[in-house]
Amino acid sequence: MEKKLITAIYPGSFDPITLGHLDILKRASTLFDKVIIAIAINSEKKPLFSKKTRLKMIKDVTSNIPNIEVDNFTGLLVDYAKNKNAEVIIRGIRALSDYEYEFNMALINRSLEESITTTFLVAHQNYTHLSSSLVREVAGLGGDVSNLVPKNVIEELKRKLDAND
Ligand code: PNS
Repeated sequence: MEKKLITAIYPGSFDPITLGHLDILKRASTLFDKVIIAIAINSEKKPLFSKKTRLKMIKDVTSNIPNIEVDNFTGLLVDYAKNKNAEVIIRGIRALSDYEYEFNMALINRSLEESITTTFLVAHQNYTHLSSSLVREVAGLGGDVSNLVPKNVIEELKRKLDAND
């Protein structure tokens, strides 16, 4: 019997991608045949980084992982997942406080599309305190984020802050 290939979507704002996201993504890439990391574009949110820069930052740090694709989407996540023939949505859980929000999101997504299963991966203990919003705040105030984000993101953060000087 032919082996069924499973595609998973790892969605998020990734504004910017952090080492915590990257850890989840790498773990997911060992569990599924293909993982699509998909930036959700929400016209009501004003991100720090443009869609183009976020895509570039993620492509740069994932170029050495063969089964990862980088993309973006608008609209409902489950519609996007169906379009991509994905059966799994991956979300990282850092602490119990994440769980309620993630649990509700998983239930809403399941009520919208029964065939897609949300899977939670536990974030590495080094990154349980880490979020993109903290990175933006610390970097904006001149703090060191070198142990929180990949190198190319540090460069983009510097570029952004210099431009706003
Ligand atoms: O990184 P984030 O901001 O926690 O990611 C949240 C995200 C983008 C995964 C979520 O808001 C989402 O799926 N947005 C797409 C719109 C959608 O499908 N909404 C219904 C499920 S909440």
